[in-house]
Amino acid sequence: MATVTPIFSLVLLLSSAILRLASGFATALDPSLMGLNLRKEKLSHFRFYWHDIASGPHPSSVTVVPPPSNASSTFFGLVNMIDNPLTLRPDAGSELVGRAQGLYSSASQEEVGLLMIMNFAFVSGKYNGSGITVLGRNPVFHKVREMPVISGCGLFRFARGYAQATTHTFDPKTGDAVVEYNVYVLHY
Ligand SMILES: *[C@@H]1O[C@H](CO)[C@@H](O)[C@H](O)[C@H]1NC(C)=O
Ligand SMILES: *[C@@H]1O[C@H](CO)[C@@H](O)[C@H](O)[C@H]1NC(C)=O
Repeated sequence: MATVTPIFSLVLLLSSAILRLASGFATALDPSLMGLNLRKEKLSHFRFYWHDIASGPHPSSVTVVPPPSNASSTFFGLVNMIDNPLTLRPDAGSELVGRAQGLYSSASQEEVGLLMIMNFAFVSGKYNGSGITVLGRNPVFHKVREMPVISGCGLFRFARGYAQATTHTFDPKTGDAVVEYNVYVLHY
């Protein structure tokens, strides 16, 4: 009797806690009800080319906040809005797999180091309509820059991973750049 009572009250306490959770704004869900099998996490690798087109009549990358007139050589303070094509190969005319929509800003006073905030919105095949979100630091003159994939939507719900960026070409006269992205994502 002496041992049954504490167990009984523990069960009571737990069930009232679960009830409270369920009756409030938070409800515990069975992941399978959402078609999620938490034991079947997949690792996918995506490779595509990111086109930052600053020149010409239809730029995909525009400066919305210029750096202050006496800014450092790192353009500290600059903000660019982007809607950059993502293509299968470095050639801008190759198959479009998605768009990188977001912004980058110069956040470093020591080197050109960008804060990247981008949604990769895919349009290709089964990934059409799904996307991943990248938020990270991009010191553009380093050979390989790594940025976290912080999550995603559609097929990438609950995703996590990282992206590695390597400059393919950069034209200092026009400011146009083509960057290879290798993205590794764990998702369900
Ligand atoms: C430029 O630098 C000077 C001296 O550091 C500062 O007073 C000024 O506010 C800065 N900005 C501009 C736009 O001149
Ligand atoms: C992607 O989905 C949109 C909207 O559902 C559709 O209009 C478009 O044709 C699709 N694109 C491809 C390449 O399947």
